[in-house]
Amino acid sequence: MKRIVVLGSTGSIGTQTLDVARRHADELEVVGLAAGTRAGELLAQAREFGVRHLAVGDERLAGEPVADELLEQARGGTESAAPSSLSQAMAQRGEGSLGFGADAVVDLARLPEADIVVNALVGAAGLRASYETLRAGKVLALANKESLVVGGDLIMPLAAAVDARRRADGTAPATGPAGALMPIDSEHGAIYQCLLGEDAREVARLWVTASGGPFRGRTRDELGGITPAQALAHPTWNMGAKISIDSSTLMNKGLEVIEAHHLFAMSYDRISVVVQPQSAIHSMVEFADGSVKAHLGTTDMRIPIQFALSYPARWDAPVEPLDFTKLGSLEFAAPDTDTFRCLALARAAGERGGTLPCAMNAANEVAVAAFLAEQGTYLGIAECVEAVMDAHDVQRVESLDQLEAVDAWARAEARAWIARR
Ligand SMILES: NC(=O)c1ccc[n+]([C@@H]2O[C@H](COP(=O)([O-])OP(=O)(O)OC[C@H]3O[C@@H](n4cnc5c(N)ncnc54)[C@H](OP(=O)(O)O)[C@@H]3O)[C@@H](O)[C@H]2O)c1
Repeated sequence: MKRIVVLGSTGSIGTQTLDVARRHADELEVVGLAAGTRAGELLAQAREFGVRHLAVGDERLAGEPVADELLEQARGGTESAAPSSLSQAMAQRGEGSLGFGADAVVDLARLPEADIVVNALVGAAGLRASYETLRAGKVLALANKESLVVGGDLIMPLAAAVDARRRADGTAPATGPAGALMPIDSEHGAIYQCLLGEDAREVARLWVTASGGPFRGRTRDELGGITPAQALAHPTWNMGAKISIDSSTLMNKGLEVIEAHHLFAMSYDRISVVVQPQSAIHSMVEFADGSVKAHLGTTDMRIPIQFALSYPARWDAPVEPLDFTKLGSLEFAAPDTDTFRCLALARAAGERGGTLPCAMNAANEVAVAAFLAEQGTYLGIAECVEAVMDAHDVQRVESLDQLEAVDAWARAEARAWIARR
C-alpha cells in the first residue's frame, strides 16, 4: 500500500488523481489533501477518503463555517473548535491536522505518514512543495511543471539524492530508474517510459509532441481579438484554466521543453517539438541508431497519473485502450513559432538558464491571469513575457529565497507593463 498526499486535490489533475485512488483503493491510501479555495470540495473529498490531514491555501477561509467542518473531519469526528494554530498540537496528539495558508500546504509535503506527494498545484506556487517533498525523502509525483521550470537547478540534485537513498535502502525498483521524481505530464511520462531499459548515452533526441492548441493554423493577425472563452476550449485535453491558456499560446510546450531538459538531463539542441494534432502520440525518443520509440495511448490524464503512482508496476487502466482501427491517420508538423512566440521565448529562457526561466514563468503567469480577467490581450501575453525577460538581470540559481525574490520582481514588472498598455 502506498500512502499519498495530493496537493491541489480540487483541480483537474487532483480530482483525476483521486479517481485513480478510488479505483485502486487496495494499492493507494490518501493520507493528506490540500486545496486553494474550494474548501467545500476539499471537505467532501476528505470525508469520502477518510483523510485527516488537510490544508487550505486561502487563509481567509479559516474564518468561514466550513473551517469548523474541516476541523471536525481532521479530528476524526469529535467536537469542533476554533481552527487557528491547531495543526501542530493535533498532530502531536496523533490526531489529524488542519492548516490554512501557503505554509500549511507545504507542511503536508513533509507529512511523516506519506510515501508519495502528488504536486498538482498550479504555477510557481508549487515550487516550495516540490522542494520540501524531496528534502523529506519522499517520492514526488509531479504535475506542477512550473516547479522544474523555475527551480530545476535546485530540484534535480535533491531528486538524485533521494534516488541514491532509495537504491541504498532497497525501496527503489530492482531495475530501471529509482523513481524519486515521477513526471505526471503526459509527454514526460511518455518519454520516461520510452527510456525504460535504455542506456541514456544512446539517446539522440527527445521529441515532445504538441496538439497545437485550439488556434493551430491561424496567423498572428487572426489572433488579435481572441477571447478567454475561445482560448480555454482545448481540442483534446480538459484542463485547468492556466494550462489551457498556456496550451493555446504554446507556452505550455515551452515549459515542457525546459521540464524535459531538467528531468532527462538533455541539452536543448536535442529536444524538438513536433505538432501531432490527434494527441495519440504522447512523445518519442530517438536513439543513436535511428530507431524511434513512441508512447501512444488514449488521451486521458489518469493514465500518466496512474503510472507515476504505480511505478514500477502497472495496474489496470481506468480508461478504454486506444483502438488503432478507429484512429485514422496521424499528422505531424513543425510548430509555428513566429505566430506562437511563447514557445520560442521559453526555449530561449531555458537555453540562457539561471534565473531567466523563473522571470519568464512569473511574467507569463501574470499575463495569463490578466488575459483571463480581460485586463490584457491574447497577443499581449508573449509581448509581456518578452519585455520582462529583456529587463531581467540573469543570475545563477542559488536558493529558493533568491528564486522567490526574482519571481516577485518579475510579477511586479509584468503588472507594470500591463498597466502601461
Ligand atoms: N490539467 C491537466 O491535464 C494537466 C496536464 C499536465 C500537467 N498539468 C499541470 O498540473 C498542474 C495543475 O494543473 P490543473 O490543470 O490541475 O490546474 P487546476 O485545475 O487549476 O487546479 C489547481 C489546483 O491547485 C489548487 N491551488 C491553486 N493555488 C493554490 C494555493 N496557493 N494553495 C493551495 N492550493 C492551490 C487549486 O485549488 P482550488 O481550485 O481549490 O482553488 C486546485 O486544486 C499545473 O502545473 C499544470 O501545468 C496539468
